[in-house]
This record gives sequence, structure tokens and C-alpha cells, in this order.
Amino acid sequence: MTLTTTKTVRDYAIETPQTIPVFEKLGIDFCCGGNRPLEEACAAAHLNVDEVLKSLEKALAEPARPNDRELRSGSLAELMSHIVNTHHVYVRTQIPEILKLAEKVYSKHGANHPELETIRNVFRGLGDELMSHLMKEENILFPYVERMEEAVIQGDPILPPPFGTVANPVRMMEYEHDNAGIALKSLRETSHGYTAPADACVSFQALYTALENFEKDLHQHIHLENNVLFPRATELERGHQRA
Ligand SMILES: [Fe+2]
Ligand SMILES: [Fe+2]
Repeated sequence: MTLTTTKTVRDYAIETPQTIPVFEKLGIDFCCGGNRPLEEACAAAHLNVDEVLKSLEKALAEPARPNDRELRSGSLAELMSHIVNTHHVYVRTQIPEILKLAEKVYSKHGANHPELETIRNVFRGLGDELMSHLMKEENILFPYVERMEEAVIQGDPILPPPFGTVANPVRMMEYEHDNAGIALKSLRETSHGYTAPADACVSFQALYTALENFEKDLHQHIHLENNVLFPRATELERGHQRA
């Protein structure tokens, strides 16, 4: 496989998910802002594109995990069920736990580390927005996409949704993903890339580790929705209307 610098980061992540850990490690946005050529993304992140290509080549020498392939070629119902059972469950469990930890660390070390107040506030805001975001996906968008896919499989007409077309809630979800991406960036910057200070206690370190894991999971979650689920759902609706 020849790697090019003109291919978008998003396409690398979709076609070859083994590249995702490389993007994650180097801080290259592959989910919300992934729709730009690798060359441009590297320049924005102040990275040498040849070095990045070498890392990608190395990652591609590893075989793709079967699960990644299934998610891209299986049914939308399976993909949504994977998103809900894996990523939505993770978000819902982690938010209260991380908030509790952030409160504890802030109350103990907030005086010496004012960044902890910002971190707690930004994470609380992100948590609130995500909880309502998940509800919208699970109660409105995902059930509609599931019904639409069922209708297409059975050759039935798609009943028009109350929101006009699937592109409307998709646009709204993408907008909310962008906002979540901004909050994640702010958390990363405020915590200096999740580097705990020298005097950090175990809870402080645990908070940064938990936040970094949360970021990683949310990137993968948003990638599956923005780059795989939403384009496929939009295409399904468009193709069926034309038929
Ligand atoms: Fe989601
Ligand atoms: Fe989402």
C-alpha cells in the first residue's frame, strides 16, 4: 500500500483503523477535523510529514483487527449497537466517576494548582452536554436510522421523519461533536498534555490518566459516528429516495 500525503486523515482512519493510535499519539485530529490532507494536518500540528508517514507505515504492517472491518461493512444496526453498548456505556459510567475524582483533587490541591478548577468546570460542562447528546442519539437519530435500514432491507418505503431528512439531526450531532472536541482540547491544554506536576498525589495522577483515557474513547466514538455511521446513513436515505 502506497501512503500519500494528499489523502485525508479521515480516510486513513476509516480505511485503515490501525493508523488511529498513531494519530492519537501525535495529537492529529482524525474525528471532527479529520477532513483534510495528511500534509496539512501535519503542518498544523508542527510535525514532519515524512516522520509521520514512517509511523503510519509501521502501524500498517500490523493486520487490521477483524472488529474494525466488521464495523465498516456490517449493518448500521450492528454499528449503532456497538456504539451504544461500548462508547455510550463508557461515557455514562466515567462521567460521574471522573467528576467525583476531579472534585476531590480540586478540594485538596486547588489552592496550589488553579488549573484544577478549570479542569473540573470544563469537564462538568462536557459531561452535561454529552449526557443530553447521548439521549438525542439513542431516542431520535439511532432509532430512525434503524427503521430506515429495516425499510430498505424489506423494500418498503421510508416513512418521512419529523425532522425532514436524516441530514438535519446529523448536522446537529456533528455540531455537538465539534463542541466536545473543543472541550477536550481545552482539557488537554490546561493539563499540559495530562502531565501531572511533580508534587501530584496518586489521585491527581489518576485524574489525568482517567481524563486521557476518556479523550481517547471519545475520539474513537466520534470517529465512528462522524466518519462511518453518519455518511452511511445519509447515503442510505439518499439512495433510497432516488429509487
Ligand atoms: Fe454517540
Ligand atoms: Fe455523538
